[in-house]
Amino acid sequence: MKSTASEFVFALTNPGSEKALKLEVETMKLGWRPGYQRRGFVTFKADEPFSFDSLDVGIATARRLCLSLGKAATREEAVARLGETRIIHHARFADRKMQGVSDVEIPAKPQFGEIIGTVVELGASEFWAGLHRHAPFLSPDPAGDAGIAMPAESPSRAWLKLEEAARFFDLKFTRKDIVVELGCAPGGVVLALINRGVPVIGVDPAKMAEVVLASAIAGRQDAPIDRPWFFQCRKPAALTSKRDLGQGVTWFMSDMNQSPEVVLKECARFCKMAPSIRGVLITLKLTDLLQVADKAQWFASLAEMGFKTLRLQQLSVHHKEFALLALR
Ligand SMILES: C[S@@+](CC[C@H](N)C(=O)[O-])C[C@H]1O[C@@H](n2cnc3c(N)ncnc32)[C@H](O)[C@@H]1O
Repeated sequence: MKSTASEFVFALTNPGSEKALKLEVETMKLGWRPGYQRRGFVTFKADEPFSFDSLDVGIATARRLCLSLGKAATREEAVARLGETRIIHHARFADRKMQGVSDVEIPAKPQFGEIIGTVVELGASEFWAGLHRHAPFLSPDPAGDAGIAMPAESPSRAWLKLEEAARFFDLKFTRKDIVVELGCAPGGVVLALINRGVPVIGVDPAKMAEVVLASAIAGRQDAPIDRPWFFQCRKPAALTSKRDLGQGVTWFMSDMNQSPEVVLKECARFCKMAPSIRGVLITLKLTDLLQVADKAQWFASLAEMGFKTLRLQQLSVHHKEFALLALR
């Protein structure tokens, strides 16, 4: 049965984030009421039935949101509920993690507008089936789990954060981009960007790893045009000037271990110094997951800076890490 309306939706979240998910939904005033809950899995009900459009609300703590087709006792029964659906993603709660299951099938990359089935295995005889419509800024991966492996040469796990956010939000970088990253040491993000062919100005008083220094240039004026480069501005963000940035910066990124308020203040200052900035990608490590309820304030600050498309997404690589995206 291919249903386009349901009395319930279910959300997959990072195990341990269920309370934050329910708080976020409450603060969004959607009128959704939490129902059944397991680790990494929460259902919601509302006064009216849900449609695919109801899922288009941008819940940061939901890695996937589906119209629920209910619970089944076996995987086969759950799959049967999805009828003719071409792409079916399988997720499983195991080892305290909600993960995509790739041994069932290798899923093709979905197109925008395509209906995707999700089968979630919560126990030996508990399988849930759901449907959603793939859209921009939704993860193309089963369970919103990027399933990417970090290269051994990466100096930090921040490589995973950049790669997961780029995959989740389908970010495209070109050789014409220049990224400024605040809090760049020891260099996992810089390595990921350089490997993607993107030059980076890194701001951080701390020391960079050798693997990144191989692409380093001594001064901003020395930037080559035939290869991606890295220039370190070895000082705190607040002391960085327009001169350090030069011309042509197109992305602002931050991975500083600072509060959202401090990072957004610097973001506003950098956007003034470099009006060519077209995108913002900030990773925030929330000390308390319930801070996600403040997301409307973060969006308001970015909207004031002139950004129109705003998204916040919890990453699967670390349950306290969120990626905040803003595009002009
Ligand atoms: C999580 S680490 C960054 C990891 C890094 N992005 C990577 O890819 O390996 C946080 C960094 O933020 C830096 N930091 C904290 N406050 C800062 C500030 N005010 N200005 C610049 N860097 C700052 C710290 O020195 C630290 O290196």
